[in-house]
Amino acid sequence: MVCVRVAVRVRPLNKREKDLSSKVIVHMEGKTTSIINVKDALTNSSEVKPKSFTYDFSYDSSNDEKPNFVSQDKVFTDLGHDVLEDAFEGYNACILAYGQTGSGKSYTMMGNAGDVGLIPRICEGLFSRITHLSQADHTSFHTAVSYLEIYKERVRDLLSEGRCLRVREHPVEGPYVEGLSTPQVHSYSDVEKLMEKGNGSRVTASTAMNDTSSRSHAIFTINFRQAQLDAEQPSETTSKVHLVDLVGSERADAARGGWMRLKEGASINKSLVVLGNVISALADMSMSGGSKMKKKGSFIPYRDSLLTWLLKDSLGGNSKTIMIATISPANVNYTETLSTLRYANRVKNIVNQPTVNEDGSVKIIRELREEIANLKALLEKGTRVSPVGPKQVVSVEEKLHRNEARVLQLTQEWTNKWRETQNILRSSLAAQERSQGRLRL
Ligand SMILES: Nc1ncnc2c1ncn2[C@@H]1O[C@H](COP(=O)(O)OP(=O)(O)O)[C@@H](O)[C@H]1O
Ligand SMILES: [Mg+2]
Repeated sequence: MVCVRVAVRVRPLNKREKDLSSKVIVHMEGKTTSIINVKDALTNSSEVKPKSFTYDFSYDSSNDEKPNFVSQDKVFTDLGHDVLEDAFEGYNACILAYGQTGSGKSYTMMGNAGDVGLIPRICEGLFSRITHLSQADHTSFHTAVSYLEIYKERVRDLLSEGRCLRVREHPVEGPYVEGLSTPQVHSYSDVEKLMEKGNGSRVTASTAMNDTSSRSHAIFTINFRQAQLDAEQPSETTSKVHLVDLVGSERADAARGGWMRLKEGASINKSLVVLGNVISALADMSMSGGSKMKKKGSFIPYRDSLLTWLLKDSLGGNSKTIMIATISPANVNYTETLSTLRYANRVKNIVNQPTVNEDGSVKIIRELREEIANLKALLEKGTRVSPVGPKQVVSVEEKLHRNEARVLQLTQEWTNKWRETQNILRSSLAAQERSQGRLRL
């Protein structure tokens, strides 16, 4: 069991805030973020106390001249490296960016040209590690990505011109998006092209806060599989990494965009309200010491919005999850910033249950091998000190042979299956290269 980790990041004052001669009211020291209410300060200075919150990380990105300034690279080194580590160990991982419009969610997740954020850095790191590992040992890798957005409670496939798709539920695998494009990627430049395509398909609209801010949730997912046949013992793990840029957390009335926008705001905010409800329910559950655990699933309202339904594993389930709450440093955003800090404070209490996603037959092979080792030890002991009679020796031997035959068969099946996948991969890669004119035949 691990808690969701929470980071808070404050951006520099923007032009609008500077034009309004805004005061900086957010301060960070170590893991602590403090906020003061300038209005209080003006009316009664003696009673002003900052409100302070402690998180796993408090990132001061407000001024690059400060000694404690946190760059895009530092955020990646702290959080992105862990996500890569998790993926290579076979865990699911998730990073959610939460905060009001214009606070730096997209900057943190995607970033700007020349100053890229977590998603490009994680993808680049993934491929540099794959290259390194494939040279060092005989591990094979399979990586595919998808990119979708949820806009007005509809899923749009960003890698397929924003086509609307339906969410369905698989009896074992859980919720999934039917027909979602999940192209396989062989290099970071493959991912770059897809990101560019996807970003171009996002719904954008103007709000009072940020001219080209996105009004949808965007989920970029990496599906990562690795397999290795090491000393006859196969290993195969899969990992899903969700990188999520949530819609602005401000209430509908804060984004002054007219009646159409208000109507839109109602459905945009529905998923955020549900996300809040899910987080509250999960936080309550873990704070009650797990006494409500038995009823788990029955009262967490995952199904009330597409966002929470698709991210079910990431919130309270099988995933190592991080939330980055982004905030403005300015007094004009005091109310929104305080509400983000409180929200982030609650998220710290969510407990997840990540497990290594090991292939089913690989797991059986590993367990059988353990049993074989035990049986062998038993036999050896039996022939040495003879605590077991000859009849028992025969039955143990039979069991041993049965297990060995089963291991052999399963390993063969797994190896065939894996070779077949590799062949398909190789031929599709060759076809792709041929079509791009790279391969001369
Ligand atoms: N930490 C930061 N350092 C520098 N600029 C930032 C930072 N965070 C955000 N910005 C800038 O502020 C603006 C709004 O950020 P953006 O990420 O688009 O907000 P959001 O996605 O939360 O609506 C963008 O122009 C972005 O480049
Ligand atoms: Mg954005």
